Amino acid sequence: MADATPPLTPLSLGMLLGRIEHEWATRKKIFDLPTARFWAPDPEIDLGFDFLGRRCATPIGPAAGPHSQLAENIVLSWLGGSRLFELKTVQIIDDLEIARPCIDMQTIGYNIEWSQELTVPQSLTEYTKASMLLEILREWEPIQEFVSADPGPHVFDMSVGYDLAGISSEKVSSFIRGMRNAGAEIDALRPELTGSWARFADRDFNTALSDTLTLSTFHGCPPEEIESITKHLIDEHELDVIVKLNPTLLGYETVAGIVNDELGYTDVSVKESAFAEDLQFERGIELIGELNDYAKARGRRFGIKLTNTLVVDNQKQWMPDETMYLSGAPLHVLAMTLLDTLSTALPGQLDVPGSDGDIMVSFSAGITKDNLADSIAAGVNPATVCSDLLKPGGYGRLKPMLKALTTEISESGHTDLITWKADRQAQAAAAGFSSTAAQHVADIRGEGIEAYHLRGNEKLPRAVDHELEMFGCVACNFCVTVCPNDAFFSIKSPQDHIEGRQQYLLLTELCNECGNCMTFCPEDGDPAQIKPRLYTEPSLFAGRTGQGFLLDDAGVVIGSRLDGAQADGAEASALVQELLSGEAGLPLALAAAAAAGAEATPEAGTDA
Ligand SMILES: Cc1cc2nc3c(=O)[nH]c(=O)nc-3n(C[C@H](O)[C@H](O)[C@H](O)COP(=O)(O)O)c2cc1C
Repeated sequence: MADATPPLTPLSLGMLLGRIEHEWATRKKIFDLPTARFWAPDPEIDLGFDFLGRRCATPIGPAAGPHSQLAENIVLSWLGGSRLFELKTVQIIDDLEIARPCIDMQTIGYNIEWSQELTVPQSLTEYTKASMLLEILREWEPIQEFVSADPGPHVFDMSVGYDLAGISSEKVSSFIRGMRNAGAEIDALRPELTGSWARFADRDFNTALSDTLTLSTFHGCPPEEIESITKHLIDEHELDVIVKLNPTLLGYETVAGIVNDELGYTDVSVKESAFAEDLQFERGIELIGELNDYAKARGRRFGIKLTNTLVVDNQKQWMPDETMYLSGAPLHVLAMTLLDTLSTALPGQLDVPGSDGDIMVSFSAGITKDNLADSIAAGVNPATVCSDLLKPGGYGRLKPMLKALTTEISESGHTDLITWKADRQAQAAAAGFSSTAAQHVADIRGEGIEAYHLRGNEKLPRAVDHELEMFGCVACNFCVTVCPNDAFFSIKSPQDHIEGRQQYLLLTELCNECGNCMTFCPEDGDPAQIKPRLYTEPSLFAGRTGQGFLLDDAGVVIGSRLDGAQADGAEASALVQELLSGEAGLPLALAAAAAAGAEATPEAGTDA
């Protein structure tokens, strides 16, 4: 691991478009996602739902986290079939030092991440770029046969934290205003639409990027401020608001009982002190009803989201902090139990089958291909995903999820989510359950417990007894797919003189050294440090330590720095150059991006 937290350096819009064009021409991929993993809706089955009154063509998308931070991440999610994007949480403190590694998805899920790694203005630029890219891709002829001529509507949902002072600050307020009307941001980016993209330069892009917001009540968010923050967001910004709740709402005894005793995670130490500091169940029940009434009285919508991660002691010590945040399979059981408990405690108030109120329930907790249909049947809208997308396959795991859901609906003789859900609710009632949520909880805490129990989640990623080297490896492609930022790319090896079928290289500016590739790499070593680290920015190359190769605008290696452990510098540079000069080559069109950047205003061109 490098000694300092590396800054995440977004690619400019021009660079992203150049990468799309170049990858399509040379690899038939976009940001390393092959067309086989693009989602095209089945015209016979409507997976659409209303997100606080806005139409979304599918009920899945990335949860606030590493998959909804950079523009390319949002594009990758969309290509995979996401239509609801809970954007990475924005907060006033935007220069946090995050310890590394910060993501551990070896078995279930743990992280020590702490909201966005970009500055607040950079986040606005990223979300604007993402929105423009999606509009462009919807009309980009080459991919239409793979995503369909009508990929359906999507929604960007903002996320902010963590206290009233920060959220009402000018910094965060101007971010929210910018998301509500991104006209100026879009105009600043227009000059980057050059070359074959120039026909979009005068396009009437959607300027209202988002008018819904999920409040993250995590990282010390004072529970007594949830009410005032929600009212502030409704009154000051006229937003529809979702409050993201924490599993602590279930109480320590219940949570520890489920995690340690029922699910067998005896090594997980649930942090008891976090429960006293968080929102308490009785107050939570009152607050949900009060805030829904408050929103309705002002013509706005209100929802809840279940749940954020669970605070646990860091007993693994693979990541550096004292506390870590648990996600994945066991969280699914907690969040579904919370859904069932809340819908019983709030009769007729939640918008879930068997309750039929108007408070929408969004969800993120251990969603996988295997439980998506049951979760949607339980009434969650949408089911957002984080941990599962950090496993091998990455964004490519979205399409199988949607396929499984589509199959379930069509095999039960339905053509849309609404009638299918009503049918599932009738079946649950006939089986003696109060709701589909209650039925799902009975299953995952009963006969279906294996997928959530320690026994079903203790298998470690595959390992081979070999030191990872700069060139050559088992070529499993995991470093490409598990990276939420698509920082890795591969090039087929030249015939004779380099070991291995594929060579893997890193676009260093996109790597934040989260550690996820190291977890899944079967060989011994950190791919983000060992594979050739390419830089396009001279100042970043100069400012960082460790091996690296600086490229000029023509993609030529003009500088290199080798660690003592690596082979001869000149030889390594020559090999990198040979790979980049091959047919597939560097997936960036640096010269075109540089030209577009020169035309763009400084604000738009230097969002890195
Ligand atoms: C690496 C990582 C970063 C996350 N960052 C945020 C965040 O910025 N804001 C937030 O509200 N939740 C954040 N979360 C929580 C997720 O949005 C999600 O609620 C949680 O991980 C449960 O879903 P999962 O089991 O599918 O991972 C993060 C989770 C992970 C694993």
